[in-house]
Amino acid sequence: MTALAPAAIVLQPMTLGDLEQVVAIDRLSFPQPWSEGSYRFELTQNQAAHFWVALAPEGQRSSLLDRVLGRPQRTIVGYGGLWHVVDEAHINTLAVHPDWRGRRVGERLLICLLDDARRLGAVTATLEVRVSNVVAQGLYRRFGFLEVGRRPRYYADHEDALLMTAYLGGRSGA
Ligand SMILES: CC(C)(COP(=O)(O)OP(=O)(O)OC[C@H]1O[C@@H](n2cnc3c(N)ncnc32)[C@H](O)[C@@H]1OP(=O)(O)O)[C@@H](O)C(=O)NCCC(=O)NCCS
Repeated sequence: MTALAPAAIVLQPMTLGDLEQVVAIDRLSFPQPWSEGSYRFELTQNQAAHFWVALAPEGQRSSLLDRVLGRPQRTIVGYGGLWHVVDEAHINTLAVHPDWRGRRVGERLLICLLDDARRLGAVTATLEVRVSNVVAQGLYRRFGFLEVGRRPRYYADHEDALLMTAYLGGRSGA
């Protein structure tokens, strides 16, 4: 699996029209996926929420025929979200469609979330990750996240969560 050129993947704010594809990826990615209603709430009611989607490269987006038939006009390959509270950003979800994993889409999304967090004025970013999820932990460590705690039996199936935090290096000029 080859990494995609950074410019190949386009990142955009998540919209309500994205939810069908986002929920489908969520179901493929997590044992306890969020409902469409949860995402709808985040996008429409939660001022602290900032969600992004990664779009497939130009050539692999939905065809003109899809557009004529009213199918989605963009193909989502991953998504991520954060809650911004005062000087902290909490990354609440990050997932890439299984067919697109290992091609740096997750990395692009994480960079996007951390840039967004800095732009919002966050000084630290936190997240929880399953102790068994070594792929995600490796990604987070590469971007400065350190393990700062453990939440025993955090998940519904009683697996522990690692609590990880990254220092964002102060406010961005954006
Ligand atoms: C974690 C996740 C978002 C990473 O996304 P991704 O696009 O595959 O990640 P990247 O391509 O940027 O690379 C991350 C690392 O995972 C490895 N990797 C992940 N899936 C892979 C796959 N299917 N094939 C090859 N390598 C893979 C990459 O080699 C890379 O390792 P490296 O940094 O040591 O080189 C993705 O695996 C995923 O959606 N997992 C399920 C949901 C999840 O666990 N989310 C995190 C919740 S805390």
